[in-house]
Amino acid sequence: MRILGIETSCDETAVAIVRDGRWVEASVISSQQDAFRGLGGVIPEVAAREQLKLILPALHACFSQAEKTWDDIDAIACTVSPGLTGSLLVGTTTARTLASIHGKPLFCVDHIHGHMASTWLFGKHTSETFEPVFPLLCLTASGGHTELWLRQSHTSQTLLGKTRDDAAGEAFDKGASLLGLPYPGGPAISRLAKTGDATAFSFPLPFAGESTLDFSFSGLKTSLRYLLAKLPADALPLENLAASFERAICRHLCDRVLKAFEAHPQVKELHVVGGVSANATLRSSLIASLPGIQVRTPVHISYCTDNAAMIAAAAEFSR
Ligand code: KG4
Ligand code: ZN
Repeated sequence: MRILGIETSCDETAVAIVRDGRWVEASVISSQQDAFRGLGGVIPEVAAREQLKLILPALHACFSQAEKTWDDIDAIACTVSPGLTGSLLVGTTTARTLASIHGKPLFCVDHIHGHMASTWLFGKHTSETFEPVFPLLCLTASGGHTELWLRQSHTSQTLLGKTRDDAAGEAFDKGASLLGLPYPGGPAISRLAKTGDATAFSFPLPFAGESTLDFSFSGLKTSLRYLLAKLPADALPLENLAASFERAICRHLCDRVLKAFEAHPQVKELHVVGGVSANATLRSSLIASLPGIQVRTPVHISYCTDNAAMIAAAAEFSR
């Protein structure tokens, strides 16, 4: 089964062709990041207009990258929620129209289910084959959501915990904005953090000692704001601040994941997906804290952040 995936839930316009839910034959991601640089976030109306401009060129680029035609495509999949309404509308309308013109079945995919399928993807980035094993715990951490799932199969999962306020990626984005760094904040903070001392400043550990598997990031952001008010604005130790703030977010994520493994000792595999799974500090902290657990992240950074290959994969696995 070869599925054409379309993802337009936020500020990425993505189209991909994926065989059997795993092999990525083409993945095109047109990012609008330049349009929002310096603005500290995404403007929904502008994002929708950009989607409209980018969707057909992305579609053509995808077919040419894969060297395929419509005859080779068995079905179409598109993200239907959650996301920005205007952006989603561009993808769903395009997908419905193409399905009708070319007589292909259409799969409607939840964006978070898409991220959860991303650890199955491989393609030209790796020649290694691998087989994730259920049951597994999945941490989905991106700009709009932070959730912890116990997954029994592709179609059966239980939500163990979720953020009560900001998402992990949102914490990176808001922290970066306080530090005067560009959007998206995750990559900007993590770049600076490489040369900083992560123990220079201490931040509280949310829900320390509590049994909840929920997350909370807004307190970390407020702590950073108070800390900045006490430091000289013209000589901020940016590297140390970035490293310490990154460490605080990663510590909280690791701490709740560890709690989840304590509650579910039968599980031997952790998947980390969504934009924040690109973070090297998070990856290494989780691996170090979970001996004996197989920690999987998407095989390529472009499958961590929003992409359409994961939407095609999720459609395949929902059949
Ligand atoms: O999954 P994604 O592309 O979009 C959503 O579904 O929200 O995630 C985007 C988020 C942004 O908040 C961005 O700052 C964060 O992922 N992100 C990172 C990194 N790369 C992207 N956060 C931490 N470290 C990174 N390397
Ligand atoms: Zn996402």
